[in-house]
Amino acid sequence: MNKITSLFNIQYPIIQGGMIWNSGWRLASAVSNAGGLGLIGAGSMYPDVLVEHIQKCQSATDKPFGVNLPLMYPAIEEHIESIIKLGVKIVFTSAGSPKKWTSTLQKEGIKVVHVVSSSKFALKSQEAGVDAIVAEGFEAGGHNGIEETTTLCLIPDVASQIDIPILAAGGIATGKQMLAAMILGADGVQIGSRFAATHEASSHDLYKEQIVKAKEGDTQLSLKELAPVRLLKNEFWNQIQEAYERCATTGELQKLLGRGRAKKGMFEGNLVEGEIEFGQSSALIHEIKSVQEVINDLMREYQESLNHKPFI
Ligand SMILES: Cc1cc2nc3c(=O)[nH]c(=O)nc-3n(C[C@H](O)[C@H](O)[C@H](O)COP(=O)(O)O)c2cc1C
Repeated sequence: MNKITSLFNIQYPIIQGGMIWNSGWRLASAVSNAGGLGLIGAGSMYPDVLVEHIQKCQSATDKPFGVNLPLMYPAIEEHIESIIKLGVKIVFTSAGSPKKWTSTLQKEGIKVVHVVSSSKFALKSQEAGVDAIVAEGFEAGGHNGIEETTTLCLIPDVASQIDIPILAAGGIATGKQMLAAMILGADGVQIGSRFAATHEASSHDLYKEQIVKAKEGDTQLSLKELAPVRLLKNEFWNQIQEAYERCATTGELQKLLGRGRAKKGMFEGNLVEGEIEFGQSSALIHEIKSVQEVINDLMREYQESLNHKPFI
């Protein structure tokens, strides 16, 4: 047992990050059944859809699972009401201040974890009273901070400043990397892209195959003026680059992004016009696997690396 496994009452300190268009009840319950902690990604769900996913997850596993709640979500109050009513016991918040909702959730016996990308916000989250934080580095898939701090630098810096448990995120897809993150001061890991390339993820097969195909350098942090996000360099990304070259305003960038781009890319599998989010770890992902295989690989490689003592 360590701080994370005992906080959530799980077997392995492996969290599957909430991911829009990827992490529905099927992925979350598979991760929880395999001994990690699965999170339903509420960011791409209407309130009634979230209710359905929570209920299906409750039927599919008797292990703990949680909900990831991006705090800028427009119907946040409805989501929170459903989470409390349906008895979800773990919430990971992101993209917003943890001050507003943490105590409301904790009063209901819910453990609250907040995602940050800098030491400054790790400290603020600790002050807001969260139970743990996810420190997410620049390598990560999806939305990210503007600081561009890599996981390798972020984790030891955060660990030297806060006392609550830390989950490292960003760029982690193997057991060796998991061990490295824990040596740097993390108590566990949150993994996104590796779980997006599993059979249980709800995203389109073409998107999953693209994660497997991607090589080092194929993604880049973009749209910093709107909300920084790591994207595959596809045709849509080229259009963003062209907009930058003609010094487009934030309004023009917003118009180019439009509505529904992420759904188009990840859920509908439009690799040309869609927004394709995944992280740098894609270069280390060579096969679409089942969740059980991913967790087995992670733990086997973690243990093998732990037992390997080259300097003794
Ligand atoms: C497709 C995709 C969608 C994501 N959506 C969310 C989200 O809705 N909320 C959130 O807090 N993080 C989101 N993330 C970040 C993940 O939860 C996780 O922290 C991140 O993927 C970790 O980095 P990795 O991809 O290198 O493993 C997303 C990541 C990906 C790849």
